[in-house]
This record gives sequence, structure tokens and C-alpha cells, in this order.
Amino acid sequence: TSRRKLVVGNWKMHGSHKANAELLEGVLAARPFGADVAVCVPFPFLSETAVTLAAGDIRWGAQDCSAHEQGAYTGEVSAAMLREFGCRYVIVGHSERRAYHAESDQLVADKAKIALAHGVTPIVCVGETLAQREAGETAAVVKRQLSAVIHTLGHCVAEMVVAYEPVWAIGTGKTASPEQAQEVHALLRAQLQAATPRAGEMRLLYGGSVKPDNAAQLFAQPDIDGGLIGGAALKAADFAAICRAA
Ligand code: G3H
Repeated sequence: TSRRKLVVGNWKMHGSHKANAELLEGVLAARPFGADVAVCVPFPFLSETAVTLAAGDIRWGAQDCSAHEQGAYTGEVSAAMLREFGCRYVIVGHSERRAYHAESDQLVADKAKIALAHGVTPIVCVGETLAQREAGETAAVVKRQLSAVIHTLGHCVAEMVVAYEPVWAIGTGKTASPEQAQEVHALLRAQLQAATPRAGEMRLLYGGSVKPDNAAQLFAQPDIDGGLIGGAALKAADFAAICRAA
């Protein structure tokens, strides 16, 4: 395909000045990569990450943003602020936020929209739980999640990145098989194709226990354009190996 692969590290709520410096130096030293690479870090570390990565080709971003422009929203961080810190990406609708912060499909879509309006590319996460998969609801769940974003973004939908993350595969060591992941990616691509003529250019990432030893097989699938990496993104050698596999 003509799509350039993208590998994004999601650090979640991990890190410290010292650990981040070591991790980023390790990843920088492992370049060059054939894929686009980015790290999504906790808000307090955006500034130092921007400084460390300023000279290179590794991008950075955040793990969430507010659905509001600005105002009396204590504890929230706006897309405009992320843009000021040089963020290329922001993850929205991660399953941990959907589950622990009751984020609805529409809220996730609103966040994606405001990110795009400020020049930050949203990485919109979708994915089913184990119970939903076992009940045969996978296709319906991801379709509903993606549908809200498609309707809210309109013709801008082609500017986003989508990450399929089966909830049962996140942090569990249970990766979806390449075939299981590809099957859902193909459904997502088809849904996007009905919404935009540019669906073929869009990058659909897989996330959920991606490791150095399973990354290449996943990334070889026709509709898997890279990965959203959790645990393995915290070790420079592992993250670099996954980036190289892309
Ligand atoms: O955003 C990343 C995912 O939640 C995957 O996490 O690689 O630790 O399973 P994991």
C-alpha cells in the first residue's frame, strides 16, 4: 500500500524526568526508522519531550484533550494548549477513558473535532470488550463508535487516525491474532470508504499487547497501518524493535 506506517507509544500514566530522558534518548539512538513514530506522554512531560525531540523526526502528543475550547473546566487541557506544545497527535477515546471516565461516543467525537480544528491529529480509539466479542457484537460496537466520529467530523474525517484496540487485548498479553485484527480493520476501512473518498489514505492502527515478536505479523496485514503501543513503549529497545518492524 502507499500508506506510510505509524507507530505511536502511549505511555499512559508512567514516567518521571529521569525515566523519560533515558527512554527518549534510547529511542532517538535507535533511529532511523522506516515508519513515522510518535510518543504520547502525560501532560506535565510535554514540555521536556518537545525539547528532547525538537531536532529529530519523532513526533509527540498527548493522551486526551478537552472537548471545550477554553473556560471554567478545572483540570482540563485544551487542544489549543497541546498545539502550543508542538503536539502532532492526541489520543481520544482510549478504552481506559471510556471505562473509567464514562466517555461517550459523542464526547469522543467532539474531542476529535476540536483537536483537528487546532491542527492536532486525533488518534480515535475503538474496540470491543471480551463480553461483547463473546456475544458476537464486535462489528456492531466498533461501527457505532466510529459512526459517531464520522458524523461529527464530516468531510474532515480523513484527517484522523483510527486505532482498533480490543479491550481484552490491552495490557493482558493476549494479542488479537493478525487475522482477527485484520477482520475488524477491514470493517472499519469499509465504513470509512462509505464516508470519504480518502479512506484508502487513512491510517488504521492496531493496539493491544503489541510486542517485538508479534509486531511484524500484525503490520503485514493489508489494513493494519501501524500500532498504538502501551507497555512495550516504556522500554526503548522494545519500542525501537516495534518501530523497525513497521
Ligand atoms: O494505547 C495502548 C494500548 O492500550 C495497548 O496497551 O500495549 O500495554 O496492551 P498494551
